[in-house]
Amino acid sequence: MNRVDPQPLSKMATGIEGFDQLSGGGLPLNRTTLVMGGPGSGKTVFSLQVLANAACQRDESGIFVAFEERGREVIENAATFDWGLPTLAERQIYILDAHLSPTVIQSGDFDLSGILAILKAKKEQMNARWIVFDGIDVLLMLLQDPILEMREIYRIRDWLADNALTAIITAKLDSQIVQGTNYGFMQFMVDCVVHFDRCLEYGVPTHRLQVTKYRGSDFAPGAFPLSFGPSGIEVAPPEPPEIIHEASTERVSAGFERFDAMLGGGLFRGSSTLITGAPGTSKTTLIGKFAEAACQRGERTLFVSFDEGVDQIIRNLSSVDIDLHPHRQSGLLCMYSGRTEARSAEEHLIKM
Ligand SMILES: Nc1ncnc2c1ncn2[C@@H]1O[C@H](COP(=O)(O)OP(=O)(O)OP(=O)(O)O)[C@@H](O)[C@H]1O
Ligand SMILES: [Mg+2]
Repeated sequence: MNRVDPQPLSKMATGIEGFDQLSGGGLPLNRTTLVMGGPGSGKTVFSLQVLANAACQRDESGIFVAFEERGREVIENAATFDWGLPTLAERQIYILDAHLSPTVIQSGDFDLSGILAILKAKKEQMNARWIVFDGIDVLLMLLQDPILEMREIYRIRDWLADNALTAIITAKLDSQIVQGTNYGFMQFMVDCVVHFDRCLEYGVPTHRLQVTKYRGSDFAPGAFPLSFGPSGIEVAPPEPPEIIHEASTERVSAGFERFDAMLGGGLFRGSSTLITGAPGTSKTTLIGKFAEAACQRGERTLFVSFDEGVDQIIRNLSSVDIDLHPHRQSGLLCMYSGRTEARSAEEHLIKM
């Protein structure tokens, strides 16, 4: 039997670096992705950011159908991000205000065909490559009838199958809504499912995302932490499954000659060292000296501390003749001081 070379699935990059890494290249081309999660978990931000990145980075047009928020609100809420959405909304991103009125829907005559006809015309006019249906749960909740819900889900599915668009459907997930609607069915219908989650861990708010299904493709398993920065969502990229670092035999000075001698010539470059000790036993002094020595060798250094301000650390270290100030001024030394409980460990890492 002749074997053929495996063909990877075609994907569209989202421009969200960590997500593109964990999904092996982005979302499935011309197929549908379901983005699920609780209120405020980041579904709308993710979807808009994907459209904005596609427009800015590859000049691809997209359509955003807002079932939950008004079009104006979508633009206002995104103003804190650096996407320039108002300008994009004039040219490459069409925002359809599909804010639904309960009276119209519950009168019994409502279906999505009118909206889908508008979208088809718009898609052709703009040559759109992307479409987002944001807040499908609002539509399903207003329909209040499992048969009608199923009918409209099928209608969207068939429309997407005919229209060669890379699609994202977002749906709010909470225990009440899940019971009343066809979420299980929707997960079978789509090719990719991404779960967003927002919870408190030890009192610290934490956002995560997880790809739970990707037809025809591998993906990094597990939940990945995310945070919101000026460009929108940032996802911590997955660690490679194997450890392939080269172990250096080079020694670097810890800053004290006698301590270096105790260590057999200093610390191995690229190694990690844990310093533990009771309060006031000079742990910070030791790492201050280490940072100073690194800067004196001209090496860029990141100094991370928790629950103690940068200025306070610099002042206290100067009393034992460790002067970090000039290195900070020259930009060689970068100092990050975080409040432990304000962010999750992963969010601190992303901020650094
Ligand atoms: N400019 C911003 N800076 C920092 N965080 C922001 C910013 N804008 C939004 N967020 C974060 O994004 C979250 C809201 O994200 P988003 O609107 O995408 O949620 P959602 O999953 O769509 O929620 P819903 O289901 O209620 O529509 C907020 O909870 C907030 O934490
Ligand atoms: Mg939303």
